[in-house]
Amino acid sequence: MPILDLSFDEVLTTTRAVRKRLDLTRSVEPEVIRECLELALQAPTPGGMQNWHFLVVTDPSQREALAALYRQSARSPGGQEDILQQMIAAAASEKEAADRTRKAAPARYLTEHLHEVPVHVIPCIEGRSENLPVIQQAGLWGSIIPATWSFMLAARSRGLGTSLTSYHLFFEREAAEVLSIPYEQIMQTALIPVAYTIGDTFKPAVRKPLDKVLHWNRW
Ligand SMILES: Cc1cc2nc3c(=O)[nH]c(=O)nc-3n(C[C@H](O)[C@H](O)[C@H](O)COP(=O)(O)O)c2cc1C
Repeated sequence: MPILDLSFDEVLTTTRAVRKRLDLTRSVEPEVIRECLELALQAPTPGGMQNWHFLVVTDPSQREALAALYRQSARSPGGQEDILQQMIAAAASEKEAADRTRKAAPARYLTEHLHEVPVHVIPCIEGRSENLPVIQQAGLWGSIIPATWSFMLAARSRGLGTSLTSYHLFFEREAAEVLSIPYEQIMQTALIPVAYTIGDTFKPAVRKPLDKVLHWNRW
């Protein structure tokens, strides 16, 4: 059952990427994860295929192995550090660079503490998207991502913090070995660290104004 008194719109606007405010000392009951995943299964799925799977990782040594791959990804070419450094270097002013450095801190914090986050949820899909035409890629990714977001919204309404991460996928094959996932048949799509949050007030994010991205009838 939801434990926070939030309206649906509040859940939609305040489900933030939570990293520094994860309570790493509090365990998460398996039942609450199951409850959130039950809700996630109501998400749309092409042709009723339900070709999705969720691997829940709580074993400390498995989490440590995943976190090690995540850290390795962060330091790989094109990984987290490269992206953050490029964003900081591209800043128009010193003030903007300082602001971007400040905003990078939570992502770096998660990289250092991922093994301490009590639950890692890995949404997986049957099939692999490499070499597929866009229509079939859309069917795969478009099936698992709505369910994943539903899971994250349900978690928020229960006082849990999550973030959608993808960096461990630099080493998807190695992660598949750690988790005994049959790599050729099953594609991992993300890694969602889950923990209770420290406090439960979160603000809506600053995003581009709607009119910058809205196209009506014509592009
Ligand atoms: C497809 C996708 C992959 C992402 N991968 C990562 C990741 O590997 N690590 C990370 O710290 N943030 C990652 N993020 C970013 C966060 O999930 C988050 O959306 C972003 O920091 C903005 O925070 P906000 O949603 O609270 O505004 C990813 C986001 C998306 C949509």
